[in-house]
Amino acid sequence: MILVTGGAGFIGSNFVLDWLANGDEPVVNLDLLTYAGNMENLVAIGQDKRHTFVRGDICDRALVARLLAEHRPRAILHFAAESHVDRSILGPGEFVRTNVQGTFELLEAARAYWNSLDAGARAAFRFLHVSTDEVYGSLGPADPAFTETRGFEPNSPYSASKAASDHLVRAWFHTYGLPVLTTNCSNNYGPFQFPEKLIPLMIQRALAGEPLPVYGDGLNVRDWLYVTDHCTAIRRVLESGRLGETYNIGGWNEKPNIEIVRGICALLDEMAPSPAGPRERLITYVKDRPGHDRRYAIDARKIESELGWRPAESFETGIRKTVRWYLDHRHWSERVTSGAYRDWVRENYGDRQGEAT
Ligand code: NAD
Ligand code: DAU
Repeated sequence: MILVTGGAGFIGSNFVLDWLANGDEPVVNLDLLTYAGNMENLVAIGQDKRHTFVRGDICDRALVARLLAEHRPRAILHFAAESHVDRSILGPGEFVRTNVQGTFELLEAARAYWNSLDAGARAAFRFLHVSTDEVYGSLGPADPAFTETRGFEPNSPYSASKAASDHLVRAWFHTYGLPVLTTNCSNNYGPFQFPEKLIPLMIQRALAGEPLPVYGDGLNVRDWLYVTDHCTAIRRVLESGRLGETYNIGGWNEKPNIEIVRGICALLDEMAPSPAGPRERLITYVKDRPGHDRRYAIDARKIESELGWRPAESFETGIRKTVRWYLDHRHWSERVTSGAYRDWVRENYGDRQGEAT
Protein backbone atom coordinates (compact mmCIF):
# COMPACT_ATOMS: atom_id res chain seq x y z
CA MET A 1 0.00 0.00 0.00
CA ILE A 2 0.91 3.67 -0.22
CA LEU A 3 0.67 6.53 2.28
CA VAL A 4 -0.62 9.82 0.91
CA THR A 5 -0.42 13.07 2.88
CA GLY A 6 -2.91 15.85 2.13
CA GLY A 7 -5.26 13.47 0.32
CA ALA A 8 -8.37 15.48 1.21
CA GLY A 9 -7.11 18.61 -0.55
CA PHE A 10 -7.50 19.53 -4.20
CA ILE A 11 -4.69 17.58 -5.88
CA GLY A 12 -4.39 14.94 -3.16
CA SER A 13 -8.06 13.95 -3.37
CA ASN A 14 -7.91 13.83 -7.17
CA PHE A 15 -4.83 11.65 -6.83
CA VAL A 16 -6.45 9.22 -4.37
CA LEU A 17 -9.58 8.89 -6.54
CA ASP A 18 -7.45 8.41 -9.64
CA TRP A 19 -5.17 5.90 -7.90
CA LEU A 20 -8.03 3.69 -6.76
CA ALA A 21 -9.71 3.95 -10.18
CA ASN A 22 -6.53 2.71 -11.86
CA GLY A 23 -5.49 -0.18 -9.62
CA ASP A 24 -6.15 -2.14 -6.46
CA GLU A 25 -3.36 -1.01 -4.19
CA PRO A 26 -4.75 0.40 -0.92
CA VAL A 27 -4.12 3.95 0.29
CA VAL A 28 -3.70 5.37 3.77
CA ASN A 29 -4.65 9.02 3.59
CA LEU A 30 -3.23 11.30 6.31
CA ASP A 31 -4.76 14.77 6.32
CA LEU A 32 -5.25 17.36 9.03
CA LEU A 33 -8.44 18.67 7.40
CA THR A 34 -7.48 22.31 7.54
CA TYR A 35 -9.83 24.74 5.79
CA ALA A 36 -8.47 23.29 2.50
CA GLY A 37 -9.13 19.64 3.30
CA ASN A 38 -12.60 18.37 2.52
CA MET A 39 -13.96 14.87 3.15
CA GLU A 40 -16.69 15.58 0.61
CA ASN A 41 -14.02 15.27 -2.09
CA LEU A 42 -13.72 11.61 -1.11
CA VAL A 43 -17.41 10.70 -0.94
CA ALA A 44 -17.10 8.46 -4.02
CA ILE A 45 -14.75 6.14 -2.10
CA GLY A 46 -16.51 6.49 1.25
CA GLN A 47 -17.25 2.76 1.50
CA ASP A 48 -14.12 1.58 -0.29
CA LYS A 49 -12.13 -0.76 1.96
CA ARG A 50 -8.93 0.12 0.08
CA HIS A 51 -9.03 3.65 1.50
CA THR A 52 -8.14 4.36 5.13
CA PHE A 53 -8.53 7.96 6.20
CA VAL A 54 -6.63 9.29 9.20
CA ARG A 55 -7.14 12.79 10.46
CA GLY A 56 -3.78 14.01 11.72
CA ASP A 57 -0.84 16.36 11.38
CA ILE A 58 2.31 15.63 9.38
CA CYS A 59 4.16 17.55 12.12
CA ASP A 60 3.18 14.78 14.55
CA ARG A 61 6.16 12.46 14.04
CA ALA A 62 4.91 9.88 16.53
CA LEU A 63 1.61 9.59 14.66
CA VAL A 64 3.38 9.21 11.31
CA ALA A 65 5.74 6.61 12.81
CA ARG A 66 2.78 4.66 14.16
CA LEU A 67 1.02 4.74 10.79
CA LEU A 68 4.15 3.58 8.98
CA ALA A 69 4.71 0.73 11.44
CA GLU A 70 1.08 -0.33 11.26
CA HIS A 71 0.46 -0.11 7.51
CA ARG A 72 3.97 -0.81 6.10
CA PRO A 73 3.58 1.33 2.94
CA ARG A 74 5.96 0.88 0.02
CA ALA A 75 5.83 4.60 -0.70
CA ILE A 76 4.94 7.98 0.79
CA LEU A 77 3.43 10.56 -1.55
CA HIS A 78 3.67 13.93 0.13
CA PHE A 79 1.00 16.43 -0.99
CA ALA A 80 0.13 18.05 2.36
CA ALA A 81 0.97 21.74 2.46
CA GLU A 82 -0.32 25.22 2.93
CA SER A 83 -0.74 26.09 -0.74
CA HIS A 84 -2.18 29.56 -1.26
CA VAL A 85 0.23 32.42 -1.99
CA ASP A 86 -2.12 35.20 -0.78
CA ARG A 87 -2.62 33.43 2.55
CA SER A 88 1.16 33.08 2.90
CA ILE A 89 1.48 36.86 2.57
CA LEU A 90 -1.11 37.46 5.29
CA GLY A 91 0.19 34.72 7.62
CA PRO A 92 3.53 33.11 6.73
CA GLY A 93 3.95 31.22 10.03
CA GLU A 94 1.61 28.38 9.16
CA PHE A 95 3.50 27.89 5.88
CA VAL A 96 6.81 27.47 7.67
CA ARG A 97 5.22 25.10 10.17
CA THR A 98 3.47 22.81 7.68
CA ASN A 99 5.68 23.04 4.62
CA VAL A 100 9.10 23.15 6.30
CA GLN A 101 8.68 21.62 9.76
CA GLY A 102 6.03 19.17 8.51
CA THR A 103 8.23 17.93 5.67
CA PHE A 104 11.15 17.59 8.09
CA GLU A 105 9.09 15.49 10.53
CA LEU A 106 7.80 13.34 7.71
CA LEU A 107 11.31 12.78 6.34
CA GLU A 108 12.58 11.77 9.77
CA ALA A 109 9.72 9.36 10.33
CA ALA A 110 10.26 7.96 6.82
CA ARG A 111 13.99 7.56 7.43
CA ALA A 112 13.49 5.62 10.65
CA TYR A 113 10.90 3.38 8.99
CA TRP A 114 13.04 2.86 5.89
CA ASN A 115 16.03 1.90 8.05
CA SER A 116 13.88 -0.75 9.75
CA LEU A 117 12.98 -2.49 6.47
CA ASP A 118 14.65 -5.58 5.04
CA ALA A 119 16.91 -5.13 2.01
CA GLY A 120 14.22 -5.83 -0.60
CA ALA A 121 11.70 -3.45 0.93
CA ARG A 122 14.39 -0.79 1.42
CA ALA A 123 15.30 -0.96 -2.26
CA ALA A 124 11.66 -0.70 -3.34
CA PHE A 125 10.68 2.15 -0.98
CA ARG A 126 10.02 5.66 -2.37
CA PHE A 127 9.41 9.09 -0.84
CA LEU A 128 7.78 11.27 -3.50
CA HIS A 129 7.67 14.97 -2.68
CA VAL A 130 5.08 17.02 -4.58
CA SER A 131 6.35 20.54 -5.19
CA THR A 132 5.80 23.57 -7.35
CA ASP A 133 7.34 25.55 -10.18
CA GLU A 134 7.16 28.65 -7.94
CA VAL A 135 10.46 27.67 -6.28
CA TYR A 136 12.26 28.82 -9.45
CA GLY A 137 11.07 32.42 -9.17
CA SER A 138 9.84 34.67 -11.94
CA LEU A 139 10.61 34.81 -15.69
CA GLY A 140 10.80 37.74 -18.10
CA PRO A 141 8.73 37.58 -21.29
CA ALA A 142 11.56 36.19 -23.45
CA ASP A 143 13.28 33.96 -20.88
CA PRO A 144 13.46 30.23 -21.54
CA ALA A 145 11.10 28.04 -19.51
CA PHE A 146 12.21 26.57 -16.16
CA THR A 147 14.35 23.45 -16.47
CA GLU A 148 15.24 21.19 -13.53
CA THR A 149 18.74 22.70 -13.34
CA ARG A 150 17.57 26.28 -12.80
CA GLY A 151 18.51 27.73 -9.41
CA PHE A 152 15.84 28.49 -6.83
CA GLU A 153 14.69 32.11 -6.48
CA PRO A 154 11.45 31.95 -4.46
CA ASN A 155 9.69 35.28 -3.95
CA SER A 156 6.71 34.58 -1.68
CA PRO A 157 6.56 33.02 1.79
CA TYR A 158 4.72 30.10 0.14
CA SER A 159 7.37 29.48 -2.52
CA ALA A 160 10.19 30.01 -0.01
CA SER A 161 8.67 27.40 2.30
CA LYS A 162 8.25 24.95 -0.59
CA ALA A 163 11.83 25.62 -1.75
CA ALA A 164 13.03 24.88 1.78
CA SER A 165 11.12 21.60 1.78
CA ASP A 166 12.61 20.66 -1.61
CA HIS A 167 16.08 21.28 -0.19
CA LEU A 168 15.36 19.09 2.84
CA VAL A 169 14.18 16.26 0.59
CA ARG A 170 17.32 16.56 -1.52
CA ALA A 171 19.54 16.55 1.56
CA TRP A 172 17.87 13.41 2.96
CA PHE A 173 18.80 11.67 -0.30
CA HIS A 174 22.41 12.81 -0.39
CA THR A 175 23.12 12.46 3.32
CA TYR A 176 21.03 9.47 4.38
CA GLY A 177 20.34 7.75 1.07
CA LEU A 178 16.56 7.99 1.54
CA PRO A 179 15.11 7.06 -1.88
CA VAL A 180 13.40 10.32 -2.79
CA LEU A 181 11.81 11.79 -5.91
CA THR A 182 10.64 15.39 -6.33
CA THR A 183 8.17 16.83 -8.81
CA ASN A 184 7.81 20.57 -9.56
CA CYS A 185 4.51 21.28 -11.24
CA SER A 186 2.80 24.33 -12.71
CA ASN A 187 -0.71 25.66 -11.87
CA ASN A 188 -3.34 22.93 -11.62
CA TYR A 189 -7.04 23.35 -12.24
CA GLY A 190 -10.02 20.99 -12.21
CA PRO A 191 -12.63 19.53 -9.85
CA PHE A 192 -12.42 20.05 -6.07
CA GLN A 193 -10.16 23.12 -6.17
CA PHE A 194 -10.85 25.42 -3.26
CA PRO A 195 -12.45 28.65 -4.53
CA GLU A 196 -9.62 30.86 -3.29
CA LYS A 197 -7.49 30.00 -6.37
CA LEU A 198 -7.95 31.94 -9.62
CA ILE A 199 -10.08 29.59 -11.73
CA PRO A 200 -12.67 28.37 -9.17
CA LEU A 201 -12.80 31.82 -7.56
CA MET A 202 -13.66 33.42 -10.89
CA ILE A 203 -16.26 30.76 -11.72
CA GLN A 204 -17.94 31.11 -8.35
CA ARG A 205 -17.96 34.90 -8.35
CA ALA A 206 -19.11 35.15 -11.97
CA LEU A 207 -22.04 32.83 -11.20
CA ALA A 208 -22.94 35.02 -8.24
CA GLY A 209 -22.71 38.18 -10.37
CA GLU A 210 -19.89 39.53 -8.18
CA PRO A 211 -16.85 41.56 -9.32
CA LEU A 212 -13.99 39.46 -10.73
CA PRO A 213 -10.81 40.79 -9.06
CA VAL A 214 -7.86 40.71 -11.46
CA TYR A 215 -4.55 41.61 -9.79
CA GLY A 216 -2.42 44.37 -11.35
CA ASP A 217 -2.64 44.59 -15.14
CA GLY A 218 -3.86 41.00 -15.56
CA LEU A 219 -0.84 40.14 -17.73
CA ASN A 220 0.96 37.82 -15.29
CA VAL A 221 1.47 34.50 -17.02
CA ARG A 222 0.95 31.01 -15.61
CA ASP A 223 1.26 27.56 -17.17
CA TRP A 224 -1.95 25.56 -16.60
CA LEU A 225 -2.29 21.79 -16.22
CA TYR A 226 -5.47 19.77 -15.75
CA VAL A 227 -5.23 18.05 -12.38
CA THR A 228 -5.67 14.49 -13.69
CA ASP A 229 -2.63 14.99 -15.90
CA HIS A 230 -0.64 15.94 -12.80
CA CYS A 231 -1.84 12.72 -11.11
CA THR A 232 -0.76 10.62 -14.11
CA ALA A 233 2.65 12.30 -14.11
CA ILE A 234 3.14 11.57 -10.40
CA ARG A 235 2.30 7.92 -10.98
CA ARG A 236 4.89 7.74 -13.79
CA VAL A 237 7.56 9.33 -11.59
CA LEU A 238 6.72 6.96 -8.74
CA GLU A 239 6.95 3.94 -11.06
CA SER A 240 10.07 4.84 -13.01
CA GLY A 241 11.66 8.09 -11.79
CA ARG A 242 15.38 8.00 -11.06
CA LEU A 243 16.19 8.31 -7.37
CA GLY A 244 17.24 11.74 -6.16
CA GLU A 245 16.05 13.38 -9.39
CA THR A 246 13.57 16.20 -9.79
CA TYR A 247 10.99 16.24 -12.60
CA ASN A 248 9.24 19.35 -13.91
CA ILE A 249 5.59 18.81 -14.82
CA GLY A 250 3.70 21.29 -16.99
CA GLY A 251 0.95 21.70 -19.54
CA TRP A 252 2.84 23.53 -22.35
CA ASN A 253 0.08 26.03 -21.90
CA GLU A 254 1.12 29.54 -20.88
CA LYS A 255 -1.63 32.11 -20.57
CA PRO A 256 -1.99 35.61 -19.12
CA ASN A 257 -4.52 35.77 -16.28
CA ILE A 258 -6.86 38.12 -18.09
CA GLU A 259 -7.21 35.61 -20.91
CA ILE A 260 -8.17 32.91 -18.41
CA VAL A 261 -10.77 35.15 -16.79
CA ARG A 262 -12.26 36.24 -20.13
CA GLY A 263 -12.39 32.60 -21.24
CA ILE A 264 -14.26 31.60 -18.08
CA CYS A 265 -16.77 34.43 -18.64
CA ALA A 266 -17.36 33.28 -22.22
CA LEU A 267 -17.85 29.64 -21.20
CA LEU A 268 -20.27 30.56 -18.45
CA ASP A 269 -22.20 32.82 -20.83
CA GLU A 270 -22.50 29.84 -23.17
CA MET A 271 -23.32 27.15 -20.59
CA ALA A 272 -25.33 29.20 -18.09
CA PRO A 273 -26.40 32.49 -19.67
CA SER A 274 -27.17 35.31 -17.25
CA PRO A 275 -30.21 37.57 -17.71
CA ALA A 276 -27.90 40.44 -16.67
CA GLY A 277 -25.77 39.95 -19.81
CA PRO A 278 -22.15 38.94 -20.57
CA ARG A 279 -19.99 38.35 -17.46
CA GLU A 280 -16.95 40.25 -18.79
CA ARG A 281 -18.61 43.38 -17.40
CA LEU A 282 -17.74 42.02 -13.92
CA ILE A 283 -13.95 42.13 -14.49
CA THR A 284 -12.38 44.58 -12.05
CA TYR A 285 -8.68 45.39 -11.89
CA VAL A 286 -7.51 45.51 -8.27
CA LYS A 287 -4.29 46.27 -6.36
CA ASP A 288 -1.53 43.82 -7.25
CA ARG A 289 -0.30 40.97 -5.04
CA PRO A 290 2.97 42.00 -3.30
CA GLY A 291 5.97 40.27 -4.90
CA HIS A 292 3.71 38.96 -7.66
CA ASP A 293 5.76 36.68 -9.94
CA ARG A 294 5.35 37.88 -13.53
CA ARG A 295 5.66 34.66 -15.46
CA TYR A 296 6.05 30.92 -14.90
CA ALA A 297 6.80 28.51 -17.75
CA ILE A 298 7.73 24.87 -17.45
CA ASP A 299 10.09 22.97 -19.70
CA ALA A 300 8.66 19.46 -19.31
CA ARG A 301 10.98 17.70 -21.77
CA LYS A 302 12.79 15.65 -19.12
CA ILE A 303 9.69 13.80 -17.91
CA GLU A 304 8.64 13.29 -21.52
CA SER A 305 11.95 11.91 -22.75
CA GLU A 306 12.78 9.82 -19.65
CA LEU A 307 9.33 8.64 -18.59
CA GLY A 308 7.17 9.12 -21.67
CA TRP A 309 4.68 11.48 -19.99
CA ARG A 310 2.81 14.25 -21.78
CA PRO A 311 -0.45 15.92 -20.74
CA ALA A 312 -3.52 14.27 -22.25
CA GLU A 313 -5.83 17.25 -21.79
CA SER A 314 -5.62 20.49 -23.77
CA PHE A 315 -6.56 23.71 -21.97
CA GLU A 316 -9.67 24.03 -24.12
CA THR A 317 -11.00 20.59 -23.12
CA GLY A 318 -9.82 20.87 -19.52
CA ILE A 319 -11.33 24.26 -18.79
CA ARG A 320 -14.64 23.22 -20.37
CA LYS A 321 -14.77 20.12 -18.11
CA THR A 322 -13.86 22.26 -15.12
CA VAL A 323 -16.54 24.89 -15.70
CA ARG A 324 -19.07 22.07 -16.27
CA TRP A 325 -18.00 20.44 -13.00
CA TYR A 326 -18.48 23.64 -11.00
CA LEU A 327 -21.87 24.21 -12.63
CA ASP A 328 -22.92 20.66 -11.71
CA HIS A 329 -21.51 20.90 -8.16
CA ARG A 330 -22.74 24.28 -6.93
CA HIS A 331 -23.68 22.59 -3.69
CA TRP A 332 -20.01 21.64 -3.13
CA SER A 333 -18.85 25.23 -3.67
CA GLU A 334 -21.61 26.64 -1.48
CA ARG A 335 -20.79 24.27 1.37
CA VAL A 336 -17.06 24.97 1.11
CA THR A 337 -17.69 28.70 1.16
CA SER A 338 -20.29 28.62 3.90
CA GLY A 339 -18.10 26.47 6.10
CA ALA A 340 -20.90 23.91 6.42
CA TYR A 341 -18.52 21.07 5.68
CA ARG A 342 -16.24 22.26 8.46
CA ASP A 343 -19.14 22.04 10.89
CA TRP A 344 -19.62 18.48 9.73
CA VAL A 345 -15.94 17.73 10.21
CA ARG A 346 -16.04 19.16 13.73
CA GLU A 347 -19.04 17.03 14.51
CA ASN A 348 -17.69 13.88 12.96
CA TYR A 349 -14.00 14.10 13.85
CA GLY A 350 -14.01 16.43 16.86
CA ASP A 351 -12.75 13.89 19.38
CA ARG A 352 -11.13 11.45 16.98
CA GLN A 353 -7.83 13.28 16.36
CA GLY A 354 -5.22 10.86 15.04
CA GLU A 355 -7.58 7.88 14.87
CA ALA A 356 -8.03 5.84 11.71
CA THR A 357 -11.58 5.77 10.36
P1 NAD B 1 -4.65 22.21 -0.95
O1 NAD B 1 -4.42 23.43 -0.14
O2 NAD B 1 -5.90 22.11 -1.77
O3 NAD B 1 -4.62 20.91 -0.02
C1 NAD B 1 -3.66 20.74 0.99
C2 NAD B 1 -4.11 19.58 1.86
O4 NAD B 1 -3.11 19.39 2.88
C3 NAD B 1 -5.43 19.83 2.58
O5 NAD B 1 -6.25 18.69 2.49
C4 NAD B 1 -5.02 20.08 4.02
O6 NAD B 1 -6.00 19.70 4.97
C5 NAD B 1 -3.77 19.24 4.13
N1 NAD B 1 -2.86 19.70 5.19
C6 NAD B 1 -2.44 20.97 5.41
N2 NAD B 1 -1.64 21.01 6.49
C7 NAD B 1 -1.52 19.73 6.93
C8 NAD B 1 -0.79 19.12 7.98
N3 NAD B 1 -0.03 19.85 8.82
N4 NAD B 1 -0.88 17.79 8.16
C9 NAD B 1 -1.65 17.03 7.31
N5 NAD B 1 -2.37 17.56 6.31
C10 NAD B 1 -2.29 18.90 6.10
O7 NAD B 1 -3.37 22.06 -1.87
P2 NAD B 1 -3.24 21.53 -3.37
O8 NAD B 1 -3.49 22.63 -4.30
O9 NAD B 1 -3.98 20.26 -3.48
O10 NAD B 1 -1.66 21.22 -3.42
C11 NAD B 1 -1.15 19.95 -3.01
C12 NAD B 1 0.36 19.96 -3.14
O11 NAD B 1 0.72 20.23 -4.50
C13 NAD B 1 1.05 21.05 -2.31
O12 NAD B 1 2.22 20.50 -1.79
C14 NAD B 1 1.34 22.15 -3.30
O13 NAD B 1 2.47 22.89 -2.91
C15 NAD B 1 1.59 21.35 -4.55
N6 NAD B 1 1.29 22.03 -5.82
C16 NAD B 1 0.09 22.63 -6.01
C17 NAD B 1 -0.20 23.20 -7.25
C18 NAD B 1 -1.53 23.85 -7.53
O14 NAD B 1 -1.70 24.46 -8.59
N7 NAD B 1 -2.52 23.74 -6.68
C19 NAD B 1 0.76 23.17 -8.27
C20 NAD B 1 1.99 22.56 -8.02
C21 NAD B 1 2.24 21.98 -6.80
O1 DAU C 1 2.52 27.48 -9.99
C1 DAU C 1 2.05 26.53 -9.11
C2 DAU C 1 1.31 27.20 -7.99
O2 DAU C 1 0.09 27.67 -8.55
C3 DAU C 1 1.04 26.31 -6.80
O3 DAU C 1 2.26 25.94 -6.23
C4 DAU C 1 0.17 27.02 -5.76
O4 DAU C 1 -0.16 26.13 -4.71
C5 DAU C 1 -1.10 27.49 -6.44
O5 DAU C 1 -1.88 28.22 -5.53
C6 DAU C 1 -0.77 28.34 -7.66
O6 DAU C 1 -0.19 29.61 -7.27
P1 DAU C 1 -0.63 30.98 -7.98
O7 DAU C 1 -0.32 32.10 -7.10
O8 DAU C 1 -0.09 31.01 -9.37
O9 DAU C 1 -2.22 30.68 -8.08
P2 DAU C 1 -3.49 31.61 -7.84
O10 DAU C 1 -4.68 30.82 -8.31
O11 DAU C 1 -3.54 32.15 -6.47
O12 DAU C 1 -3.25 32.81 -8.84
C7 DAU C 1 -3.06 32.58 -10.23
C8 DAU C 1 -2.77 33.93 -10.87
O13 DAU C 1 -3.98 34.72 -10.81
C9 DAU C 1 -1.72 34.74 -10.16
O14 DAU C 1 -0.96 35.46 -11.13
C10 DAU C 1 -2.51 35.72 -9.29
C11 DAU C 1 -3.77 35.94 -10.09
N1 DAU C 1 -4.98 36.19 -9.29
C12 DAU C 1 -5.29 35.32 -8.31
C13 DAU C 1 -6.42 35.52 -7.53
C14 DAU C 1 -6.75 34.57 -6.40
C15 DAU C 1 -5.80 37.28 -9.60
O15 DAU C 1 -5.53 38.05 -10.52
N2 DAU C 1 -6.91 37.47 -8.83
C16 DAU C 1 -7.25 36.66 -7.80
O16 DAU C 1 -8.27 36.92 -7.12
